Amino acid sequence: MNLEKGYLEKKIDPALDLFKEIAHLKKTKNAIILAHYYQSADIQDIADYIGDSLGLAQQAEKSKADIILFAGVHFMAETAKILNPKIKVLIPDLNAGCSLADSCPTNEFSDFKAAHADHIVLTYVNCTAEIKALSDVIVTSTNAVQIVESFPKNQKIIFAPDKNLGAYINKVTGRNMVLWNGSCMVHELFSLEKLIKIKSQHRSALVLAHPECEADILEHAHFIGSTTALLNYSKKSDAQEFIVLTETGIIHQMQKSSPTKTFIPAPPNNNCACNDCPYMKLNTLEKIYNTLKYEQPELIMSDDLLIKSRKPIEKMLKLSAEFGL
Ligand code: 13P
Ligand code: SF4
Repeated sequence: MNLEKGYLEKKIDPALDLFKEIAHLKKTKNAIILAHYYQSADIQDIADYIGDSLGLAQQAEKSKADIILFAGVHFMAETAKILNPKIKVLIPDLNAGCSLADSCPTNEFSDFKAAHADHIVLTYVNCTAEIKALSDVIVTSTNAVQIVESFPKNQKIIFAPDKNLGAYINKVTGRNMVLWNGSCMVHELFSLEKLIKIKSQHRSALVLAHPECEADILEHAHFIGSTTALLNYSKKSDAQEFIVLTETGIIHQMQKSSPTKTFIPAPPNNNCACNDCPYMKLNTLEKIYNTLKYEQPELIMSDDLLIKSRKPIEKMLKLSAEFGL
């Protein structure tokens, strides 16, 4: 099958009801769709589970399906495969990467690690499997602070690849982790100037921010957390208006859970009205339909990489369970 473009280019009959067809394919193939909150609303609506990076990893690990179609980005599908290697993992578009994962090439990171030989390596899940294999423990935005605090205060740590999340953890925990200089192109794009203007126009709105944002943006947040934490906060809060500083996909679930509340996507530093992740948004219903139907593209990883990258992710899941996450 021709995967030259990174996805299957098969014509689809425009008369097909893709929601129905995808539901049928899932049933006949014992397949599930795991979707990240940053997926478009229609994809979230066909998913069997929608979640943040930690929730998706936990679901993948315990799945009894024959196929997982991962509607997210490449490193998330890799994490699912690493945790449940016997399952066939499909990705609708192989081009769905991540600027943060790209900001941490394996050779350079190996040198960085070697230059800090007396440090342990804590790595944000937004990285390649090769980087995970070089790490001691993986973290997500849900458990990062607790995992860092589980180590003695004098433990030397290098943290990669997100310098913004790393700086936020250093601030909250009073640690001095050595940070890799990587970042997420989406969360770095929020405009401080536009945020201040929107805040002045919506004085009763609460500001919700993901810790991948830069420090000067985070200073304006009433609450900082992972996508799941932001969603839960918006459900429980009595406030009626929220300014959301993360990828806009999450607003679909926020609005579904709280239909009477108003969610304002914070604008980026360009002419766009809101901030979409170009990688997450490569997935479409059409690509998902073709991927499930023809079972291509499939994520293939070597046994060696699967084994080497598993241990640090398992450590994270074990610690998360201990924390009740
Ligand atoms: P969480 O899913 O952990 O909130 O992280 C967001 C993200 O950037 C995923 O790419
Ligand atoms: Fe990567 Fe940022 Fe997109 Fe998340 S939002 S997948 S960190 S580029």
